[in-house]
Order: sequence, then structure tokens, then C-alpha cells
Amino acid sequence: MSASNTERGAWSSKFGFILAAAGSAIGLGNIWKFPYITYQNNGGAFVLVYLICIAAIGMPIMIAEMMIGRRTQKNAFGALRELGGKWKFLGALGVITGFILLSYYSVVAGWTLEYFFKSLAGAFNGLSQQEVGALFGEFVGDPFRQILWHFIFIALTIGVVVGGISSGIERVTKTLMPVLFVIMIILMVQSFMTGGGGQALTFLFRPNFSELTFDSVLEAVGHSFFTLSLGMGAIITYGSYMKPKDSLPRSGLIVCGLDTLVAIMACLVIYPIIFAFDLTPTKGAGILFTTLPVIFAKMPGGAVFGPLFFILVAFAALTSTISLLEVVVSYCIDELKWKRKQATMIVGAAIFVLGILPALSNGAVDSLSNVNIFGKASTAGIFNTFDYLVSNWFLTVGGLLTAIFVGWRLSDSLKDKEFHEGKNTIIHYKIWDFMLKFVAPVAVALIIIAVIFLGKEFN
Ligand code: TRP
Repeated sequence: MSASNTERGAWSSKFGFILAAAGSAIGLGNIWKFPYITYQNNGGAFVLVYLICIAAIGMPIMIAEMMIGRRTQKNAFGALRELGGKWKFLGALGVITGFILLSYYSVVAGWTLEYFFKSLAGAFNGLSQQEVGALFGEFVGDPFRQILWHFIFIALTIGVVVGGISSGIERVTKTLMPVLFVIMIILMVQSFMTGGGGQALTFLFRPNFSELTFDSVLEAVGHSFFTLSLGMGAIITYGSYMKPKDSLPRSGLIVCGLDTLVAIMACLVIYPIIFAFDLTPTKGAGILFTTLPVIFAKMPGGAVFGPLFFILVAFAALTSTISLLEVVVSYCIDELKWKRKQATMIVGAAIFVLGILPALSNGAVDSLSNVNIFGKASTAGIFNTFDYLVSNWFLTVGGLLTAIFVGWRLSDSLKDKEFHEGKNTIIHYKIWDFMLKFVAPVAVALIIIAVIFLGKEFN
């Protein structure tokens, strides 16, 4: 084993990859964004379309990314260079995307920590929804606290990634993921006891196709990339620490299954209480930071369940931020021959500095909050600008090119061999290849066309 191989590390067990990849996928996208976009898109039919997108587009691309990583045992950039020469630009795009995405993702992740402590201290007790909303506005407009929590979250992320693959990332995700499931189940049971469970289930699982619009279909495709951590080399990177024996289709199926399960569970935590207390959730960040605290302050046991909920979201976010940092760190280790510790510190510090811009752009600093490079209603401020670039462009273009690369450029013999490594009786090779070659590219191209020509957005 060469020096750089010891420096990069590997999973110590098969579950190491599955839990870490599930940890990457399961994050704010599942617990915050999915419940809110599903609510906006009227449930049922949207959920069905979303499930189809995960199975027909997300899962094939996830298997493709795992294949690129495991085959080459390299970071996203090095992996694509080895397999595709000029396609290394796609790896470079991934590294840049990871850098930008982490810089603002960490800001929201930091909010969950503040809300954990706030709800622990009972800060929302007796407040109206307006007052809780005002508190949120004041919080995101406070430069000191925005930078502090962002700093703390990056520091936590660095703390894990510095430990390396098996003793850092694998160890932490192995502990946090089961805890996350247990907390979710407790919260779900508690939420159903408010009596809104039946209504929540109907809302989620009874499709009403007359409510389905072109926009909701596009939103479902877009979100399936974000939620599965696809299109930026995160799964390539995690796949590169995999041993050759594991079955790719099976791992892909489990990771996509767990991610979907948590997204649905998050709805079943949030909707019953919203229906039971008859509150209309506000848009966007609102559902998590302005609607739920009001309910937790009112409901029986809320003093316990409120903090428990926010620490759950923080854990989910942490297992995602470590995979984002690892994409960039593994690039520095493989390509620039840095030591892991040095790479993690330098990259982490640089991302912290970049993140100061989005951190201050939700009201703290006027110029940062008002700049609007793309001139759309939803792109005002640096935070929204970054999210627009990443969610609408980088991830979708990255996902599209990954599907095309593996579908059309990699040889059948290579794909066939990798696909059938380990026992695989789950997905047929030909079906997977067809999805990659035709279904995924067409679906994603559709999104991109809609963004360019119809001015659609998917934040
Ligand atoms: N999947 C994460 C979530 O649902 C967010 C995310 C998107 C991500 N792309 C990523 C996380 C790449 C890690 C790596 O919240």
C-alpha cells in the first residue's frame, strides 16, 4: 500500500459505506425541505412522482457514482480523469460544488443548534406564531450568532473528518444514524398521539392527480438529486473507500430506501401536529424554525420533544456536512498529496471563510442580503444565490453528465463486471443501463430546459 493509500483509508465493514452514504443522503433535504415542498405541492400525487424519480433516476445514478468511485479508488476528480480523461472537468465541478454547498449548508445546520438550546431553555413558551417568527428574523439578522454557529458547525465537521474514514466518519455515522432513527420513531409516535395522524397519512398517500402540475414534476426530479447527494461526487468519494466485494445495486437500493424512509417519516413527525393544531405552515425555512417551535411549546411533553427534534436535525445535517467536506479533502489528499489533517484544516477554514457571506446575508448585512445577481425573486442575497446555483445548476448538470458518462462512455464489459460483483439478484443490469442511457438524461435535460427557457426554479 502506498503512502497516499494509507492516508486515504477505507471502510472497515460493508455497513460502513451504507451508513455513511445514508448519512450523507439523509439531511436537511429530508427533514426540512421534503416536508415543506410536499406540503406546497399538495401531498399524494407529488409523493408518488417523487418515489418514481428516486427509483428511476436517483437510484441508477447513485449506483453509477458508486461504481466510478469503487472502480478507481480515487477522489471525484482523479476518478473521472482515470476513467474518462477530459471528463475530469466533471470531477472538478463536483469539488467546487462541494465547497460552495457546504459553505451555506453549514449556516442552516448551525441554526438547528441554536434552536436546540433555545427550546431546551423554553424560550418559545407562551409566544404566538408572530412572536416566534420575529425571533427567527432577529436571530438570522444577528451577525455574531450567525457566524458563531456556522463556525461551530464547521468545527464539528472538521473534528470528524480529521479522524479519517474508519475511525472518524464511519465511527460517527455508525453511532448517529441509529440514534437518528430512534429519535424519529419516538417523535412520530408522539406526533400521532396529537390525533392528526390519519389526516397526515391521507395527505401523503392519497394521490389526487388533478393537483399535479408540470412544476411539481420538475421539483420532484430536482429534489431527488439533492436528497440523494448526487451530482457532485460525494457518492463517488464514499464509493472509493469501498471494498471490491460488496454489491453495488444492493447498496444503492438500501441507501435510497433509507433516505426515502426518513423523508416520509419526517412528514409523519411534522404533519400530524400541524394538522392537529390547525396551523398553516409558513413557506421555506418557516416550517422548521417558526411553525414547529410554536407547537412544541404548546403540546404535552414539548419541553422534551422540541429539543429532541432539533438535535435530530443537527445530527442528520452533521452526517451530511462531513461527506461534503470529505469530497474536497480527498481531492487534496490524492491530487495535492496533502496529509489528511492538513487538508481538513485548510479546506475547513476556507469553507468557513466563504460561508461568512451567506451567513450574513439573511438580514445581518444589507448589501449581502440584497445583492441579486440572477434577478429572480428567490435569488435575493448571497445565501439564496449560492443555493440557486447549486440546486438548480451544479447538481442537475453534474447528475446529467454522470448519467451520460457512465451510460454512454464506460464500456459494457467494465460496467457489467462491476455491477455483478458481490451477489446481486436485485436489479437487472440491462434495466439499470437503460435508465442511465435514456431515462435519467431525458428527465434531467427536461429540467435544465425548463430552467433556461421557462425561468423555472427549484429551491
Ligand atoms: N443530501 C443532503 C440532504 O438531503 C444534501 C446534499 C446534497 C449533500 N448534495 C450533497 C450532502 C452532497 C452531502 C454531499 O440534506
